Amino acid sequence: MARRMESRGLGFRHILRAACWYALLCGVFVMAQSPPRSITEGVYSAGQAARGQQLYKTQCAECHGNTLEGTVGSPLTGSSFLSSWSARSLANLVDKIQKTMPFNQPANLSRPQSTDLVAYILQAGRFPVGQADLSEAMLARVTFPATQSSAEPPFANTARTSLPPPEGNLAELMRAIAFPNANILFNLQIKDPGAQPVKKPASAPFDYAEWGSTVYTGWLAVDQAAIAITETAPLLLTPGRRCQNGKPVPVDATDWKQFVAAMVDAGKLAHQASKARNFEAFGEISEKLNDACANCHKVYRDKGGTEGSGTTRCQP
Ligand code: HEC
Ligand code: HEC
Repeated sequence: MARRMESRGLGFRHILRAACWYALLCGVFVMAQSPPRSITEGVYSAGQAARGQQLYKTQCAECHGNTLEGTVGSPLTGSSFLSSWSARSLANLVDKIQKTMPFNQPANLSRPQSTDLVAYILQAGRFPVGQADLSEAMLARVTFPATQSSAEPPFANTARTSLPPPEGNLAELMRAIAFPNANILFNLQIKDPGAQPVKKPASAPFDYAEWGSTVYTGWLAVDQAAIAITETAPLLLTPGRRCQNGKPVPVDATDWKQFVAAMVDAGKLAHQASKARNFEAFGEISEKLNDACANCHKVYRDKGGTEGSGTTRCQP
């Protein structure tokens, strides 16, 4: 007996493709044995920069511009480039290029080619030229100059002590988190996540949402939905949030807090069962979760028997 809260629409899991690009940057970091060398000592040769320039023209300029000023891709010279590479080693930059560039055809450059490109970037950035080529051994010992305040993001301290005011009204928050994730859990009444075929994204046109829905699938998606339901519950208690009709969310009402607590319980049960890959448990868990949503809705949303955005919503 399948019970469903709202509609049959399943939410999608929003994955930032960017995460994959940045994951590639996390290469093995080897501590330099030898003392650091200054980038101003002339760490590359003119011949090496010239080789890099040739490569740059054919493989990079279309996206980074003829003078490295940046067009589709980011600038590879100037203050924004220097602050993004502040205090990072040349080895990191060679890695970035070798592993992720050209953006549309990554991992086709050799290590020496990527190093030549870095020599050209240094020359374009007016770092002094020297006699010898930039060698593999040198890469880890040379860092870009440190620009100020790159160490800690400006709001790191305040974030620990106070939360920003709510962004959405309650209906928006429900539609953003509770609805799509509850649907993923309700789906376990009819589909075993361990037995679903592996999805492949359509090759063209590229679609982030579709591609993302093929990354964390099966039980992983259930784990995540259970966490989302559990963690969204405290957001229903954020002071200052309003309902769609302008009334404040009744965060101080005793029964409201109990309804929120019941949703946390249901989310935690779902998480336990999901971690145990216990498909059978989800019949009962769906009932519990459905009750947790419906009990609160009966009192605070659907008073008078309607689901519309009525004036009686959120009234104690
Ligand atoms: C099809 C377009 C494209 C081509 C071709 C391309 N890039 Fe990029 N590049 C990008 C984009 C987009 C970014 C920003 C996203 C990122 O950092 O991965 C970027 C970022 C970079 C960065 C990091 C900049 C920063 O501030 O962190 C470097 C370094 C870089 N590219 C070097 C190169 C080099 C060298 C080549 C040639 C071998 C090249 N790129 C070719 C599009 C391109
Ligand atoms: C603590 C009380 C409470 C709980 C628990 C709760 N909701 Fe809600 N929900 C509301 C209220 C009140 C509204 C109306 C908000 C408004 O009008 O701004 C609402 C609105 C919604 C909406 C928007 C519908 C519309 O008409 O705009 C959806 C979707 C929704 N809830 C889904 C869920 C799901 C799914 C769950 C359980 C996983 C859940 N809610 C749990 C109180 C709750």
